[in-house]
Amino acid sequence: MTTMSSDADPTTAAQGPTNNGHPPVDPAPRPRATAEEVAAAFEDTKLAQVLYHDWEAETYDEKWSISYDERCIDYAKGRFEAIAGDEPLPYGRALELGCGTGFFLLNLMQAGVAETGSVTDLSPGMVKVALRNAEHLGLTVDGRVADAEGIPYDDATFDLVVGHAVLHHIPDVEKALTEVLRVLKPGGRFLFAGEPTTVGNLYARKLGQATWYATTNITKLPMLRTWRRPQQELDESSRAAALEAVVDLHTFDPAELERIAASAGADDVRVRTEEFAAALLGWPIRTFEAAVPEEKLTVTWRLFAYHAWKKLSWLDETVLRHIVPRGYFYNAMITGVKPSR
Ligand SMILES: C[S@@+](CC[C@H](N)C(=O)[O-])C[C@H]1O[C@@H](n2cnc3c(N)ncnc32)[C@H](O)[C@@H]1O
Repeated sequence: MTTMSSDADPTTAAQGPTNNGHPPVDPAPRPRATAEEVAAAFEDTKLAQVLYHDWEAETYDEKWSISYDERCIDYAKGRFEAIAGDEPLPYGRALELGCGTGFFLLNLMQAGVAETGSVTDLSPGMVKVALRNAEHLGLTVDGRVADAEGIPYDDATFDLVVGHAVLHHIPDVEKALTEVLRVLKPGGRFLFAGEPTTVGNLYARKLGQATWYATTNITKLPMLRTWRRPQQELDESSRAAALEAVVDLHTFDPAELERIAASAGADDVRVRTEEFAAALLGWPIRTFEAAVPEEKLTVTWRLFAYHAWKKLSWLDETVLRHIVPRGYFYNAMITGVKPSR
């Protein structure tokens, strides 16, 4: 296998104007990185993004309990309504940056937020899975490999640009938002959700580390052996976690995020945060689920986890939002519009 040089642009093939007169061709997924590639990735955050997300693309939906049914449609629509609920729907053409497997845009489209979509991601493996998911759902979606800092679409192409859990991976967030405004039509809206706040990230990481340590050690006990994932899988997860430190670049203070978007040229910028009690429970649960064999996560368990999260989200929204500073909540979301001129 050849090694991608550390300064190679993973999206070059996708962004080139032509491919010998044919449309640009996206690079192929590389789910198994060589040791040399992994070593290079520690010096090159975008190569790390590609390797890390190509590696997890085929199992990503399962790992994060992502589905394309009512549960995740409600979640995606709920994020949209929480910050842009007064907007007339549907939008015409929507773009997703850092689409992963398509979780946010495909579910927003199913909820009637947009009519057609374009899914993009730096990771070819993710774009492939997102397009496959869109096809299964019968949605009108195209897709390509794309870097959010240089979006390969013409000016004023989209009515809506969305993203979920992507801004914190992008080296220059203001540059990406400037690009977002360029590809939006005048008056078009952008909306990014699922971004970690600085305080939220601190307690989420500590809780995650403690849960991983406790689960992987307790399951060494002979009577709990069936709850232990094979050592090879645990080692692979630990190696991935090391790369995670290279791909997670930012956490956000809400006021600072507003400033970045305004500086990129956006109007009507709003930042909201959510999940405080829900995150204090959610992170240990998610980490536990990643540390035990898949077959142990029964439907009953998944329902318990989902309903507990919903109840605590209700507590966050109805009570804690009024007394806890917004920077303490785990998830930040931001919206704004391109000036109509
Ligand atoms: C945490 S995942 C989120 C995926 C999906 N949006 C979701 O919420 O399930 C972040 C995604 O952003 C992509 N990404 C990272 N840096 C990027 C960049 N500069 N441009 C575009 N996508 C990027 C990664 O490849 C990855 O698929």
